[in-house]
Amino acid sequence: MSQTIVRLARRTDVASICELCKDEHWNYSVRMIERLLAYEPKGCFLAEVNGEFAGQVFSINYGKIGWIGVLIVNENYRRRGVGTLLMKHSIRYLLGLGVETIRLEAVPEIANLYRRIGFVDEFHSIRFLGTSRRQELLSGLSIERMSVKEMPRIADFDREYFGGDRMRVLKRLYQASPELCFYSQEDSQILGYIISYEMETGYRIGPWICKPHGVRFPVIARELLLTCMNSIEVGTKIYVGVPETSNTAIRILHNLGFTMTAKCIRMRFGKRLQEKPKAVLSISGPESG
Ligand SMILES: CC(C)(COP(=O)(O)OP(=O)(O)OC[C@H]1O[C@@H](n2cnc3c(N)ncnc32)[C@H](O)[C@@H]1OP(=O)(O)O)[C@@H](O)C(=O)NCCC(=O)NCCS
Repeated sequence: MSQTIVRLARRTDVASICELCKDEHWNYSVRMIERLLAYEPKGCFLAEVNGEFAGQVFSINYGKIGWIGVLIVNENYRRRGVGTLLMKHSIRYLLGLGVETIRLEAVPEIANLYRRIGFVDEFHSIRFLGTSRRQELLSGLSIERMSVKEMPRIADFDREYFGGDRMRVLKRLYQASPELCFYSQEDSQILGYIISYEMETGYRIGPWICKPHGVRFPVIARELLLTCMNSIEVGTKIYVGVPETSNTAIRILHNLGFTMTAKCIRMRFGKRLQEKPKAVLSISGPESG
């Protein structure tokens, strides 16, 4: 009889986790997995079947909301309840911390797994792929490079639109590539910000968030994106995950030649959030929100 256990993931598991991601052609680098472990060391779970590594899941607690991602079960152990078991561990962990809403982005074929354990569909989330190239900035807006001292202000701004406190995640993303983090402000009020970071192949854009106010909203959004892309080597692959609620991001990306590669389903467990979805032009990642 086989025995399945779930335990906390450790740094020594990073190579196996990356291997499993690679088997699925998921674009996670060693640094990204190490960062996930660092964000939430007690929320990263591994399943073992008869002592063999069988799968993993990551969760992040942001206060009242939490995110779950990177759920993968090794092909040899699928359809035996291991994925469900890992999910239940993550959910229990987040609820135990006082999280009231858990979010994830589901591959459509797998959404039933999540529905069976209580998740409901919210909206679609679209994956875009493009290539960096030099673009002229037209608006004359001031886009500034972030520095550590702005992080608390950026995190406050982010909380208003994201719904939770992402300071520790934003800080580590900033530390990973400070040259790819920008913001715009007026009269000391943040109007928007953007972060990009390296993946196994190429760079991911996100979070990319702007205050959805006035006619300048799409201009600021576009200039932030262009400034960020202009700082990445020409010809590099750029990945962006956009909630379908953001027409502005979709329009900007289409105009820059990005193409849609996949559609996921944003799902929620627990309380519905009161949010301002228009502001969120891209998520930071399907595992981190
Ligand atoms: C998704 C995944 C983690 C599921 O792991 P698992 O251990 O096989 O899941 P479970 O055995 O707990 O499945 C529970 C239910 O989920 C649904 N489900 C799981 N895998 C499915 C699949 N490939 N297609 C359709 N439904 C699926 C089924 O309803 C299943 O119940 P059933 O076996 O009684 O029909 C695994 O298939 C995997 O690693 N896939 C590749 C990575 C991936 O897509 N991850 C999810 C991203 S959102």
